[in-house]
Parts: sequence; C-alpha cells; structure tokens
Amino acid sequence: MAESAPTAGSTGWTPRTWLSRAGAEFVAYEDDAALERSVARLASLPPLVTSGEIEKLRALLAEAEAGKRFVLQGGDCAEALGDCRPDKVTSTLKVLLQMSLVLIHGAKKPVVRIGRMAGQYAKPRSSATERRTVDGREATLPSYFGDLINRAEFTPEARKPDPALLLAGYQHAALTLNFVRALVDGGFADLHHPEYWDLSFVRRGTLAAELREEYERMTRTLGDGLRFMEAIGEGSIDQMTRADFFTSHEGLNLWYESAQTRRVPRREGYYCLTGHMPWIGERTRTLSGAHVELFRGVRNPVGVKVGPGATPAEVVALSHALNPANEPGKLVLISRLGASAVRDLLPPLLRGLAAEGRRALWLCDPMHANGTVVGGRKTRSFDAIKAELEGAIQAHRESGVPLGGVHLELTGEDVTECLGGAQGVTPDDLATNYATACDPRLNYQQSLEIAFLLAHRLAGQAPGGPGRPVVARMAP
Ligand code: PEP
Ligand code: CO
Repeated sequence: MAESAPTAGSTGWTPRTWLSRAGAEFVAYEDDAALERSVARLASLPPLVTSGEIEKLRALLAEAEAGKRFVLQGGDCAEALGDCRPDKVTSTLKVLLQMSLVLIHGAKKPVVRIGRMAGQYAKPRSSATERRTVDGREATLPSYFGDLINRAEFTPEARKPDPALLLAGYQHAALTLNFVRALVDGGFADLHHPEYWDLSFVRRGTLAAELREEYERMTRTLGDGLRFMEAIGEGSIDQMTRADFFTSHEGLNLWYESAQTRRVPRREGYYCLTGHMPWIGERTRTLSGAHVELFRGVRNPVGVKVGPGATPAEVVALSHALNPANEPGKLVLISRLGASAVRDLLPPLLRGLAAEGRRALWLCDPMHANGTVVGGRKTRSFDAIKAELEGAIQAHRESGVPLGGVHLELTGEDVTECLGGAQGVTPDDLATNYATACDPRLNYQQSLEIAFLLAHRLAGQAPGGPGRPVVARMAP
C-alpha cells in the first residue's frame, strides 16, 4: 500500500455510511429482521477473494495505466445462479483466454484478464416496475433485478426482493470461484498446454475459416516464441506462462458488498472481498450517492462507467472521491459513449482529467451505449461495437492517454444476441439462440473477431510497432 493512501475512517467513512446517502434504498426489502440476519451471516463468512490478490490486481492495473499491459474484462451481462455449471464456466474462461492470446500477440503486451463473473448477479433496470398482460389482465410487478435480489418469474412472490438470495449469491460465487481457481491452478490457462487453448478444444464447426487460420498461425508463433525462450534458459518462464484470472461485478447491491467489506490482518484500510474489482454503474455513479460512498472507502481498484451525460468536471470530481491519493491502478474509468458520440465526447473527458493531473486507467465498453431493439429483443450491432472501439482507439491516440483495455459482454457459447459479424447474424436469426438474462452478448465467434480487430489496431501502437518478435508474457 502506498504511504499516502487514505485510511478510510479518518474521513468519516465506515462500511455503513452509505446507508444515509441517496440510492441506499435501491432494494426495497420488506422484512428488516430477515435482511439483518442474512447480512450478519454474510459478514461472518470467509472472503471470496483475498486482499493479496486485490493488491496484485491494483499493481497490474497501474502498469496497464502506464501503457505496459492491456486489460480484457468480459463476461455475461447478468449471471444467473443456474449458470454455475462446469461447461458454462469453462467456456467463459476459454473465450477470455483465447482472446487474451490474440491480444498479447497484437498489442505485444501482457494481458490482464478480468471476468465479469462469480458475482455479476445484480442488475440496474431503467424502470423499477414491469407491466405485462397475464391471462388477459394487465399486471404490474417489480422489475427483475438479478438473482441476487429477486427472481425472474413474473409472479408477485418471485419478484419480491428476498434477503436469502444474498447468501445464495455468495454461495454460487464461491462455487464458481473454487472451480476457476482449480482450473487455473491445474494449468488450464498455461501456455505449455496447447490442448487447452487450441481451437480444437472448443469444437466449433461454425468458426470462419480465415479466423481459424489466423488464430492457428498466431498460436504457432506464440508457441515458437515460448520454446525459444525456454531454449535460451529464460529463468522465470514458468511464472511468465501461468495465466491469472481476476473477478469483477457491478457493485450494485450494497448490502451484499458492505457485508463483505472489512479490515484484514496486517494491512491498512478496508477491502471489499466479494470480488477483485467492483464497478459502479452508469445509473448509480452520482457523486453524493450511496454507491460512491461505499466504494470510496475501499482499497480495491474501483471501476466507474462513464456514459454520454458525463462532463469532464464530473469525471474529475469522481476521481477525487474514489482515488483521493491519486494512486495508479486505483480508479478504472470505463467509457460507454456510443459509436456515433465517442469521437466527440471522449477526447474532452480524457484531456479534462489529464489536465488536472489525475490518474486513471481507461477502458472502452463498446456495448452499453449501442443497444437497439429489433423484433422486441434487445440487440446490438457488431458494426456499432466495432465502430465505438475504433473511435475510442483514435480518441486515445489523439489525446495521448493510453487506452488501457476493453470491457465486453460476451459468452463462449454460440448465442444469437448481437447482429452481424462474419457469421452475419440477422434479425431473423435472433430467435435461434437468444439466451441472455439481460443484455445481448457477443457470441464465441464475434468475441474472437473483436479480439483480432483490436489486435490489428493495437499492433500499430505497440512499442516498436508490428513485426517485433513476440514473447508470450502472461500476467505473472
Ligand atoms: C452493465 O455493465 O451491464 C451495465 C448495466 O452497464 P452500464 O452501467 O454502463 O449501463
Ligand atoms: Co449489460
């Protein structure tokens, strides 16, 4: 921990001060006694992640902020408790791993992988209630806010916020994390095990031939680089080729987050131990609100979504609130401005923050401001996602502030939720396999396409430019 880091508490903060701020009542639990019991139990349970892991991530993000690493953050829009299945978890890990290999190759930088997983169970909604016609009668019920809060079924009982789900969410996050850790420890993501990252491991008949060829060419180059390093006796190769995964989710349900926010032995400050990197969503980033209040007091790196309504002054104020000591790797600003607005809106935000000497790691989320509705289904076009990424790369280049990574909604499955891509998902195809619990995700092929696109664009700005020998240096 940096010497100058604030000690929460000295600034009037405790893990419960959020309760007196606007937005604290976000979840309208009806049974206070049941809520208190769930929160007390949650507070007594072991942490899901450790402070040591959080410190490590913050150090890696500091390097990304300096342009030395690239961050790939991705996963479902909303995880369901029922998603805690081995095939689902491994397919998310696999697609993130494969994308990260593509990015390492293109950006010539190590990649920090952060899943939107093991806790992405709470969702903000644009409306607090939902209206449907049931048996010919109009009915209005609370919206579905994710499996951490209520249940998706459209009945009054299911839609009532249930404090028991706080514990169910914790348990499913723990089960997911246990499997992720075992896979990673067992060499799942080790570059020495090509059988894991080879495309044949992911038996996808649908993958376009050019994509498959480019991927195979790239993994051969990476493998050659690795063998060369080993041949010349590079000492720390083992460390270098082991991949780490970190976890993140939107810190929306503050009962859940604050119950696991605590001090740990031999470290200063408080840690939010439900995941490595919580983020504050676009709808809850109000400076004086409950979400900023809770997360200003923790030592974790904290993300904030930055939408089209954000002004440079607001972003500067958020950086003072969430990163008072101006530490590197502490604040992660995730721009989600929309394909048509990014070129206009991003540069003033980047320059405004830099002009004040404020540090932050910038990621681009090309998903959340590019939504449309087609045939009653929420969707996003691959072209708009691509255009926002390209616009962000341009804006970062021109502003001289590194683009530190991307934040994507994706899945390793062959879903049909986003339109376009090489496979050409059409509006008629959407019904084929539309499986998301919330927003539309890139499918397996679209995810790899985005990784290649980014790799090609980033190759131009890698130190030394394209054509340098590639060394596959994974997060140590
Ligand atoms: C999300 O990441 O799923 C989300 C709701 O994002 P945002 O807060 O940017 O709208
Ligand atoms: Co989403």
